[in-house]
Amino acid sequence: MTDDQGSFGDKRLQVYVRRKGRITKGQQRALDEYSTRYVVAPEALQTPQTLFGRDAPLGIEIGFGMGHALTAWAAAEPDWNLVGIDVYQPGIGAALLGIVEGKHDNVVLMEADARAVVASLPSASIDALHVFFPDPWPKARHHKRRIIEPEFTAVMADRLRPGGKLRVATDIEAYAQVMLEVLEAEPGLANDAGSGFAPRPNLRPITHFESRGLARGHGVWDFAYTRKG
Ligand SMILES: C[S@@+](CC[C@H](N)C(=O)[O-])C[C@H]1O[C@@H](n2cnc3c(N)ncnc32)[C@H](O)[C@@H]1O
Repeated sequence: MTDDQGSFGDKRLQVYVRRKGRITKGQQRALDEYSTRYVVAPEALQTPQTLFGRDAPLGIEIGFGMGHALTAWAAAEPDWNLVGIDVYQPGIGAALLGIVEGKHDNVVLMEADARAVVASLPSASIDALHVFFPDPWPKARHHKRRIIEPEFTAVMADRLRPGGKLRVATDIEAYAQVMLEVLEAEPGLANDAGSGFAPRPNLRPITHFESRGLARGHGVWDFAYTRKG
């Protein structure tokens, strides 16, 4: 694999992002009972038609957290094939509970570095990418760990098919300003709002991190971009 394609076993992720945390009995049970059915290896996404058993638009949520937006997306767009990628095991358990409860058969999960998985896919192969409330990494020396930074934004733009959508949200105003600069500077993307921030997408319910931010008095900034043709 070349550097551009990334590697599924990204060591940096193991160091910087929390994988384990307090897990409820229900989340652990879901991991034990449903991982075999719904948690797939990153390599499986190289042939999405085989993975899902059908040819359909492909949507990916990076860092789905507890899975609220992902399961809402699965319910709203049953004709899409959806993939949620995260590394936080209690969240994977929570998302599995939501998937099983909602009887969603159009969504799978991956426990992996989403940057590496997206980078490994061919150009113009993704129809929509969602990045909701990514870790803000407020310290300047940690900014390179952010998901929305120029290098990975260029990768996302390349992997989206022309007309494909990138939807992003944050509750951290300083990160929102940087996101706007980074997204506006990416030549492969056009701002659906013309300029500035976008309205909240119908597809996004209030997520776990969003509700935490709202409780702390944070605002919410949404972004919607289309991959240029
Ligand atoms: C601040 S939380 C937001 C979760 C969710 N989107 C929400 O709004 O509640 C960020 C999530 O991104 C995940 N994450 C961070 N870096 C990641 C990466 N490189 N690949 C996959 N998941 C990642 C974290 O584990 C965490 O669940």
